[in-house]
Amino acid sequence: MRAIVHLRYGPPEALELREIDQPACRDDEVLVRVRAASLHPDVWHVVRGRPYVLRLMGNGLRAPRHRVPGTDMAGHVELAGRAVTRFRPGDEVFGETRRGLQWRNGGAYAEYVAVPEEVLAPKPAAFTFEQAAAVPTAGYIALANLRGATGPGQTVLVNGAGGGVGMLAVQIAKARGAVVTAVDGPAKLDLVRSLGADRVLDHTRDDFTRAGERYDLIFDVPGNHPFSTCRRALTPDGRYVLIGHDQFGARGRRWLGSIPRFIGLVVRTPFSRHLAPDFSTPGKQATMRELRELIEAGSLAPVVDRTFPLAEVPEAIRYLEAGRAVGRIVIRVP
Ligand SMILES: NC(=O)c1ccc[n+]([C@@H]2O[C@H](COP(=O)([O-])OP(=O)(O)OC[C@H]3O[C@@H](n4cnc5c(N)ncnc54)[C@H](OP(=O)(O)O)[C@@H]3O)[C@@H](O)[C@H]2O)c1
Repeated sequence: MRAIVHLRYGPPEALELREIDQPACRDDEVLVRVRAASLHPDVWHVVRGRPYVLRLMGNGLRAPRHRVPGTDMAGHVELAGRAVTRFRPGDEVFGETRRGLQWRNGGAYAEYVAVPEEVLAPKPAAFTFEQAAAVPTAGYIALANLRGATGPGQTVLVNGAGGGVGMLAVQIAKARGAVVTAVDGPAKLDLVRSLGADRVLDHTRDDFTRAGERYDLIFDVPGNHPFSTCRRALTPDGRYVLIGHDQFGARGRRWLGSIPRFIGLVVRTPFSRHLAPDFSTPGKQATMRELRELIEAGSLAPVVDRTFPLAEVPEAIRYLEAGRAVGRIVIRVP
């Protein structure tokens, strides 16, 4: 099969389109003929091998152990393992390609990928493969961090609302009846308004931590204000969740990225009700089911900025790094 092969950590130009063997399909997996895959910041982290700590997290110290990048895809089932009960050949599916963390090469930038059946869901009929591939990781992060935190009339601020995760967070919060304030740069404000945000703020002009408004939830993707500052924009029981974004190496530390920031918040958790953890996060199968229900109900749709053919993954990653995309970047695998 044709696949993008990741031979060494570094600039995307080191990725090559090659002919390699199709992956083997275990009993509990399905072999998916990939039709579209998406590109998000975690793919960038693994291609660059930054922060360095991710190389110690099962990716391979000197060179990537798993050679094919990409974690989110949509396609049709080519083959179902013996223990698979939910899918059969020909079914259209979408999802992440791995059970665990997405800081891994997941094999999606290829014609075929073997995927545990539990992390897949049937592709929504109304969606193209490109749209479906744009949802899984961002949808999972959005749902997991909004869980239990939004309901009718609650006020939610989404910082970084025009990005892959933020766009879905705005729509999910709106679907639950929240009043949503969306913060992003000027180029993305029309987009987030069109996704249902009740109010938009331009981060180059407005500082939400100083505006005197208070929110029941701050869903913070870029983390450009310290928690101590965000706290004054929270209601007395309001919650703060940090999603974290290294701005393609421009923020986060070389070795540890945003991890020290997360550890700092965890250490403060017992002393601040604004950081109360939510342990109700369901698994990927339940999350994929919920995302699909939101899509079928017309409450959730990704925005696709541009598509690139499989051979042009390096160009697509350069385009992601340049920060000009308004919506997800999708890789077509014809
Ligand atoms: N916490 C978790 O559970 C978890 C799990 C997995 C991954 N992640 C992380 O989640 C992140 C996902 O991000 P994404 O896919 O949404 O990235 P993205 O598409 O790059 O979106 C980030 C958005 O934030 C905006 N932004 C940048 N600086 C800002 C500022 N000062 N104020 C307001 N908005 C600002 C960006 O706008 P511009 O483009 O105009 O700069 C962009 O629209 C990744 O970094 C990933 O590593 C988190």
